[in-house]
Formats: sequence, C-alpha cells, structure tokens
Amino acid sequence: MQKITLIPGDGIGPEVAGATVRVVEAAGGAFEWESFVVGAEAFKESGDPLPDAVLESIQRNKVCLKGPVTTQVGKGFRSINVQLRQELELYANLRPAKTIPGLEGRFDNVDLVVVRENTEGLYSGIEHQVIPGVVESLKIITEKASTRVSKFAFEYARANGRKRITAVHKANIMKLSDGLFLDCFRKVSEDYPDIEADDRIIDNMCMQLVMRPETYDMLLMENLYGDIVSDLCSGLVGGLGVAPSANLGFDAAVFEAVHGSAPDIAGQGVANPLALMRSAVMMLRHLERVEASERLAGALRQVVVEDRLWTRDLGGKASTHQFTDAVVREIEKR
Ligand code: NAI
Repeated sequence: MQKITLIPGDGIGPEVAGATVRVVEAAGGAFEWESFVVGAEAFKESGDPLPDAVLESIQRNKVCLKGPVTTQVGKGFRSINVQLRQELELYANLRPAKTIPGLEGRFDNVDLVVVRENTEGLYSGIEHQVIPGVVESLKIITEKASTRVSKFAFEYARANGRKRITAVHKANIMKLSDGLFLDCFRKVSEDYPDIEADDRIIDNMCMQLVMRPETYDMLLMENLYGDIVSDLCSGLVGGLGVAPSANLGFDAAVFEAVHGSAPDIAGQGVANPLALMRSAVMMLRHLERVEASERLAGALRQVVVEDRLWTRDLGGKASTHQFTDAVVREIEKR
C-alpha cells in the first residue's frame, strides 16, 4: 500500500489534517499514513523541531500531506516550512487561486496560478548583526534556481492550457538579484513561443491584482514576493480558508494549505478544512489517483457551491466537523 508522510502540524493543523485524512480515505485513497510531530512539540521532546526521521520518511514516500506549523516571530527555531522546502529541494510552490462560484466577493472571474520560487531569495536564512543596531539579511538569487522554476512554470502552463506567464520583480531597484531572476525567465521563455511571457514590477502588480485580477493568468515570482502575493490572491477568491498549494521538487512533493496555524481560532472546531482538502485533491492528482481525486473534488464542489455549506470564515455556520461529515456523505453517494 502506498505510504504518505503526514504532518498534522499545530494550531488548527490537527483539526484540518484529521478532517482531510477522513475525506481522502472516504474517496478511496487507501494509504498508509506515517504521522510525525514537528515544530515546538518535537523541539520539547527531542531538541530538534524537524527530526531527521521526518525528512527520511518524505524522501522514502515521495509525498507528504502537511498541516500548518507555527513559527515564532523574531526569535526561536528556523521555520520548519522553509527548512522542509530547502532540505527536500521543493523548488516550486504552486498556488492556484480561482473564484468559487457562489463565494464571489468583489470579483467573480479570478483564475490565477502563482508559481513561487521556494528555496532561496530572502528566505535563505542568512542573517547576522554587523554591529549593534545594524543587521544584514542576504537575498540569494541563483541562475540555477531561477531557471528551474521558470521551466516549471512554462511546463505547467503547457500541460494545463495556460496562455500567459507574468514574471513579477523589482529589478528596477534590485538590478542584480531580481535582474538575474528576470533574465533567466526571459531566456527560458524563448523555448516556449506558444506561451506569452511578460513582466511587471511588484508594486504595480499588487495594484493591478486588486483592481483587475481577471486580466492575469499565471504569475511567477521569487520567494518573498510569491509568499505575499499568493496570500493576496487567496483574498481575491474567498480567503485563506479556501487556498490550496503544492511544494514540488524533482524527488518529493509536500501538499499543504496556504494558511498558517491560525492560533486565534485553534481548538474551537471552526477552522475551514477546505484549503487542505483541496491540497489533497492536488495530491491525489499528483499520485495519478484520478478516480479518488475526482470523487473528492466533486464532493467539495457539491457541498460548497451547490449546498452552500460554509464555515464561519466564509460567512456560514458549519463547524469543521459538520463540513467534513457533509463531504463524506457526498463522497459516499458517488
Ligand atoms: P494564519 O494563516 O494562520 O491566519 C491568518 C488569519 O486567517 C487568521 O485570522 C486565521 O484565523 C484565518 N485563517 C487561516 N486559516 C484558516 C482556516 N483554515 N479557517 C478559518 N480561518 C483561517 O496566519 P498568521 O496568523 O499570520 O500565522 C500564524 C502562524 O502560522 C505563524 O506562526 C506563522 O509562521 C505560521 N504559518 C505557517 C504556515 C505553514 O505552515 N505553511 C504558513 C503561514 C503561516
């Protein structure tokens, strides 16, 4: 039986991960789950917030379903999320943001895919104090990482019928670092004449995304811009409770929601598991479990779009459990 590494995470993580495992199993994804504790709890137990056994399990199984993990602000251990992406070379972070019918806010026609470089930029974690009152944080941009993530974006566009990729940057100011990223994107684009390639400066891009997001298709960015702009894109289509993502590398893939551990609502049974369930749909497709992925995606569509059963973040009243029960019932009809 196919094994999947499971990281329930903390905060709302165990609530949404438990719900997601339930619907994946109901949809017929028969898996053996290898579950691991990471982050603060693992640190307390073993002194290591990301034990080697977790990385080894993902390397063996090639696929991981992950709940959010808390990272302290301004102190504490390095982000587990960033470490996982770097250690496993999960170089492309794929974050689709598409309007869910019935959930329209200001826009009813958003269909964006953000591809974020996931291993370097300002998330390289190279920071030091030069003298008291002066610190340096290094932004690393390499030709290798910029080229491979650009190739990923163009290949994804071709495979998924996308027509245009816009590279987002600040190469007018960061001429060397963002300039290199942009050069690599342009060079790769020459091999894909069937896909339109253009670019925007990040500040202008943010304005355009909140004014007319429907005019964009795929967006490609280095790490920090991709982190920020993909949350913005989630906000265009219903918020963090609905936004899925995949971290993809040559050898492994980690599927997780865009959102964090939401400590403000943890333990209340109100978290929206939809984002992680949609990430699980992406995982099932990645594993070529076509039937199970369609059953789950269809059930989510029925419950969210047709039955309009929503959790509190979407303006509804359903608890995490009620939503999950409804999805399981719907899967069982299919
Ligand atoms: P957050 O995404 O956890 O929460 C932002 C807001 O969205 C909160 O009001 C929260 O209640 C709401 N929200 C998020 N997910 C929701 C869901 N599924 N259902 C209903 N409401 C939801 O962002 P925040 O508060 O900035 O970060 C909290 C912690 O999460 C931090 O320690 C951060 O480092 C970590 N984090 C972890 C990530 C990961 O594991 N991949 C990603 C982002 C943040």
